[in-house]
Amino acid sequence: MKHPRKLIFVCNGSDCKKEGAKKLSKELKNLTDQRPLKGSCKLIKTKCMDMCKTAPNVIVGEVFCKSTTAEKVLEQLKKS
Ligand code: FES
Repeated sequence: MKHPRKLIFVCNGSDCKKEGAKKLSKELKNLTDQRPLKGSCKLIKTKCMDMCKTAPNVIVGEVFCKSTTAEKVLEQLKKS
């Protein structure tokens, strides 16, 4: 079953936190709370995804984004 909202999984494991996952989570939270994304995305914090070398890691829908930033996540959201 497809989720009605786009899912964004943000790794909050220790390595990703060291590389700025907390700041990234906050930025994404702010972006997804504002138009035009409001109500269309769901932000989910996860444990380590076992890809620590490419921290911070985010999964947007079915796409794995390595060493990512809020801008890259936004681009991916537009594509999907
Ligand atoms: S801490 Fe994020 S992938 Fe391991």
